Amino acid sequence: MTLPEPIRPTRRHVLDLDDFTRHEIETLLDTAVGMKEILSREIAQVPTLRGVSVVNMFYEDSTRTRISFELAAKALSANVVNFAARGSSVEKGESLLDTMRTLQALGADILVLRHSYAGTAHLLAQHFRGAIINAGDGSHAHPTQALLDLFTLRDKLGTLERRHIVIVGDILHSRVARSNLWGLTAMGAHVTLCAPPTLLGNEQFWLDTWPDLRIVYSLDAALQDADAVIVLRLQRERQEAGLLPSLREYAQFFALSQARLQAALTGMLVLHPGPLNEGVEIAPDVAVSAQSVIEEQVTNGVAVRMALLYHLALHLRQKGA
Ligand code: NCD
Repeated sequence: MTLPEPIRPTRRHVLDLDDFTRHEIETLLDTAVGMKEILSREIAQVPTLRGVSVVNMFYEDSTRTRISFELAAKALSANVVNFAARGSSVEKGESLLDTMRTLQALGADILVLRHSYAGTAHLLAQHFRGAIINAGDGSHAHPTQALLDLFTLRDKLGTLERRHIVIVGDILHSRVARSNLWGLTAMGAHVTLCAPPTLLGNEQFWLDTWPDLRIVYSLDAALQDADAVIVLRLQRERQEAGLLPSLREYAQFFALSQARLQAALTGMLVLHPGPLNEGVEIAPDVAVSAQSVIEEQVTNGVAVRMALLYHLALHLRQKGA
């Protein structure tokens, strides 16, 4: 496999997709295709990042994202350390910045941060000498999830140009929706948002930020002509009380049910970042239907994160950091 040049010689961090051009995203996705080939080999490991130290700093729960980053770093032979806030000196009051400085002194090159506060990855990026990857900060951004969604969609649809993608659910609290909006629009897709008004927030904000967006409050109407739907998890841990009358009512109007799938275009793809609230935002049989690519999203996530780690590490090496 010939690996391409770093995506942009000046890119050091991946904090969101708002500063990614289409060319940059495409280069990354193309690199991820090569990484996926490596993962399919009998010995799914290459020495590319030997000597590079990656630390996963997870201040919020995670299954897929954390394991995916760990497997990605290991497949490239990087040193990988998992730091969980629980059981660390954070419990003795060590601050995020002090923890980062400690990890820096221990030789960390790339920090992967998940935190429940928006802006934490940006804060670390101002102080850390290596590279920061945002693995989800509050309701703000989750660029690697969006990249793996773009990879999966491009793989299945051939292109994202003029494809119609619906994002449905708890948009107000979703970092996945925000990062996907940057990525999907950069790739030329047409995006429709669908949510109950209480889980969308200020309509004008969305339209001011992404002017070509469509906002539709009926899921049945939104799904007409959709090539794919990204179903979001209800972020109950981030919601205030009173945003929803009941989960049953939410499911009735906004869950992706078998009946809605049948009424949509044949072959409409179903995505969900996980973890799933089955029976709330998605019916269990829809999640495992032939149109669902939820498991492929998880598999593709490793290749996409390998591509990112590769490009960032190459940049650090070129700088001699
Ligand atoms: C998402 C997250 O944590 O933001 N999950 C993930 O990373 N796979 C979505 C979610 O938790 O709803």
